[in-house]
Amino acid sequence: MIKKYAVFGNPIEHSLSPLIHSHFANSLKLDLSYKPILVTLGKFEEEAKKFLQGGGLGFNITLPFKQEAYNFVDSKSNIAQITGAVNTISFKDGKIHGDNTDGVGFIRDLKKNNFYEMKDKKVLLVGAGGAAMGVIPNILNEEPSLLKIYNRTYDKAKNLCEKFKDIGKIEAVKKDLSNNDDFDLIINATSIGINNSSFELPQDFFNIGTVCYDMSYGKASHSFMEWAKKNNLKFYDGLGMLIEQAAESFYIWESKRPLISDELQKLIRNKL
Ligand code: ATR
Repeated sequence: MIKKYAVFGNPIEHSLSPLIHSHFANSLKLDLSYKPILVTLGKFEEEAKKFLQGGGLGFNITLPFKQEAYNFVDSKSNIAQITGAVNTISFKDGKIHGDNTDGVGFIRDLKKNNFYEMKDKKVLLVGAGGAAMGVIPNILNEEPSLLKIYNRTYDKAKNLCEKFKDIGKIEAVKKDLSNNDDFDLIINATSIGINNSSFELPQDFFNIGTVCYDMSYGKASHSFMEWAKKNNLKFYDGLGMLIEQAAESFYIWESKRPLISDELQKLIRNKL
């Protein structure tokens, strides 16, 4: 019987995960199916049980079900536990197991694909929602000299810092305070681009060597990209992160690491 995998979300029709996973499977000559499943709000548990009882071996979870997936699983990885979100479900020792591969995907893209090391760097994370939360433990693990969180709603940044303060040094920052930390790396984890709003940061947050990384890709990354361009800063979008987090999920299921080819990157860029 063909191995069955899927991605659950709402909306789901624009998900690139089916394309990525079928490319991974083809590159390793594995016969498996990976389908997008549109889940009605409030029906996550029902659909998840149906899929797994029907022979599904695992699935990815995208918006808005990552917290529901967290509550659904029998056991969780450390990182899923810390971030409170599950984006990958698999079977482990006969139990339904939850993992969160976003942070690993982000770090791998930054280090392996873009050759950027965060150790001893001053890092600013913009945003304090689910996307920001999903990468903070992995960033702290890389031992930056400083990790600051800036968010439109200051209290949310403060709460996030409180949550992660035992893992490493992390501080919330206010835009209107004079600030001497010209950051080495600025990461966008907001949905500013989705809302078509413009991205702004004060001049004293960056210098000519500052690198910008947007966890979004496609149109959603345009606001931050425009801002980086305007200030002549190096910019990376989150397409590499998307592929790397998928590769990590694939590895959890199949114990094989797919090769990430230029062809796959091009294929996806053409779809954006
Ligand atoms: P996600 O799960 O994608 O992180 P989220 O939890 O809704 O989504 O978080 C969205 C983030 O983008 C938040 O940090 C939000 O700021 P607030 O906490 O102040 O709401 C940020 N964001 C969204 N639109 C924004 C805008 N126009 N300007 C500034 N920040 C914005």
